[in-house]
This record gives sequence, C-alpha cells and structure tokens, in this order.
Amino acid sequence: MNDDIKELLISRALTVRAWAYAPYSKYQVGASLLASSGKIYDGVNVENAAYPSTICAERTALVKAISEGERQFETLVVATENGGSPCGSCRQMRAGFGLDLTILIVNAEGKLVQETSLKELLPQAFTPASLK
Ligand code: THU
Repeated sequence: MNDDIKELLISRALTVRAWAYAPYSKYQVGASLLASSGKIYDGVNVENAAYPSTICAERTALVKAISEGERQFETLVVATENGGSPCGSCRQMRAGFGLDLTILIVNAEGKLVQETSLKELLPQAFTPASLK
C-alpha cells in the first residue's frame, strides 16, 4: 500500500470519527475500509439506548461495503481516542471476507499506534472454510 492511500485512509477515519453516535459511552470510533476495487467505505459506531443494539464502526464500514457488492478488501483503518484495538465481534465478522487484511490502528491525533493484520489479531479463525 502506498503512503498516499495510507494517509488518505487515516484522514478519512479521523474525519468520520467526529460523526460517531456515541452518547452513552462517549467513545467515538471511526473506520475506513479500502476494498480491492479501490473504493473506500467509512463507518462510525452507532449506539442505542438498548446497548446491545449498538454497532461498531468497523462493522458499519464492512456492512456498507458488502451491501454495495464488495467482497474483497485490502486495508482497514480504525481511529479511536487512545488507539484501541478492534473488538472480537468485528474481528470475527471481518474474517468472513478473508484474513489477508492489513489493519492500521491510529489515535485521535492520527498517530499510528499499531500496524497489524487480521491473521495476527484473530489466529485460528473460524472462517467459511470451517463449515466444509
Ligand atoms: N466500538 C467500536 O466501534 N469498535 C470496536 O472495535 C470497539 C468498540 C464502539 C462500540 C461502542 O459504541 C463504543 O465503542 C464503546 O464500546
């Protein structure tokens, strides 16, 4: 991935983070997902008064992309206040679409806290192949 795309993804994750709907936790999360098509899908966490109905930023971005016909992905950027790592549900849902995904975790200042991969974050994943 070239540095321009990396910077663009980081800047989009930071920008959309401001639109997170997090009145309960106040923990705003922005995500930016690069599909293999070259298109970028952003997402934020959207909370609900019935707390379990909340959706994370990473899954918002993924659901937007899947519903636009995307199936293959290159890179996910997650922006939080403190460089928090994607939750287990987000890792698992992502694993349905390939483990070969670069994940960049940035803090609210855009500082790269960690560059990793889904393979690394979800070892021995349960994937579509597990059902065969
Ligand atoms: N959250 C995300 O958006 N992504 C994660 O990977 C971790 C948690 C959100 C859910 C909730 O709105 C808030 O952060 C606090 O858990």
